[in-house]
Amino acid sequence: MPVAQPGIFAQGTRSHHYLQLDLRPGVDPGLIGPTLGRLHQPDVTSGGLNLVIALGPALAHLLGPGGTPDGLVPFAPVGSPAGRGVPADQHDLWLWLHGTGPDTVLDAARLATGALAPAFELATEQPAFSYRDGRDMTGFVDGTENPPVDEAPDVALVPEGRPGAGGSFVLVIHFVHDLAAFGVLPLEDQEAVIGRTRVDSVELDDARKPPTAHIARVVVEENGEELEIYRRSTPYGTVGVQGLEFVAFSADPGRFPTMLARMYGLSDDGIIDRLTEFTTAEGAASYFAPSLTALRALAS
Ligand code: HEM
Repeated sequence: MPVAQPGIFAQGTRSHHYLQLDLRPGVDPGLIGPTLGRLHQPDVTSGGLNLVIALGPALAHLLGPGGTPDGLVPFAPVGSPAGRGVPADQHDLWLWLHGTGPDTVLDAARLATGALAPAFELATEQPAFSYRDGRDMTGFVDGTENPPVDEAPDVALVPEGRPGAGGSFVLVIHFVHDLAAFGVLPLEDQEAVIGRTRVDSVELDDARKPPTAHIARVVVEENGEELEIYRRSTPYGTVGVQGLEFVAFSADPGRFPTMLARMYGLSDDGIIDRLTEFTTAEGAASYFAPSLTALRALAS
C-alpha cells in the first residue's frame, strides 16, 4: 500500500493554517511537479510540523490523469429551499499546516507559499486553532464520533488496487458562525440543534433529539452500514468574526454530497439541519490528497 500523508492523522497540534492557491496562468506544466517537490525540503517540514497537500480536480487531472481517482470533480454548489446553501470557491491547491504553535506554523506557511511562488499564487488563507478541549466555538465538542486513529485510515484512504490508492478525498468549507444568535438559545435548545449534550457530548435519546438535529442529518446509513468520514475541522476567530474551517477526509467522495444534501433540505425528507440557521457556508472546495508515494513521483 502506498504511504499516506501522515499529517492527515497527526493528533495533538493546536495551531493550524490553511492555504488555497491557484496555478499561475501560462505556467509550464513541466514546472509544476518540481515546484510541488520543493515542499518536501526539510526547512518546510521540520520542527514538529505537519503538512498536508491536496490537489484540486483541474490540477490533479493536469498532473496525472492515470493516478487521478474516479469521482474527483470541482465542488458543486449546494442550493437550499430555505435560501441557505454552500457556494463553491474552488482552487487548485490546498495546504494544511499544523503544529504546536502559531509561530512555527506561520513560518512554515510563509516558506511553503514562497517555495510554490514560481507556479502558484495565494488565493485564500485562514489561521485556525484548537479551541478548549476540542470544541467548536458554539461550545460543543467536535469530533466525538470521529473514527479513532487506528480506524481512521480505513475511512479516509482510497483502498489498495484503486486509482489514487493511499490518497484521500478532501472537502473544505469555510463557515462563519452567528454566535450571538446561538448564544441566546437556552441550553436545552442548543443541545437540540446539535443532538448531543454540550458539557460532555452525550448523544440525546430519541425523545429529545429532533429530526432537525445536526447529528440526525449527517448520520447516513447505506445497506445497514454507517457512511463515515474523518473530520479534522478547526475553529478560527477574532472578536469580530468566528467560525469553523470544516475539513473532512474520505475514501469515497460520494459521502460528502449525501451529507450536505441532508443538511440543506435536498434529500427526500426535505428536512433542514437546524445548525445551518446559526452558521453560513461562505465557500467550499473539493481536493484530493495523494499518497506520499504519489507526491514523490510527481515531484521527480
Ligand atoms: C459549522 C459547521 C459544523 C459544525 C459546527 C459541526 C459540529 C458538529 C458537532 C458538534 C458534532 C457532534 C460531535 C461529533 O461527533 O463530532 C458533529 C458531528 C458530525 N458532523 Fe458536523 N459540524 C459542522 C458541519 C458538518 C458538515 C458540513 C458535515 C458533513 C459534510 C458534518 C458531518 C458530521 C458528522 C459525520 C458527524 C458525526 C455524526 C455521528 O456519527 O454521530 N458536519 N458536527
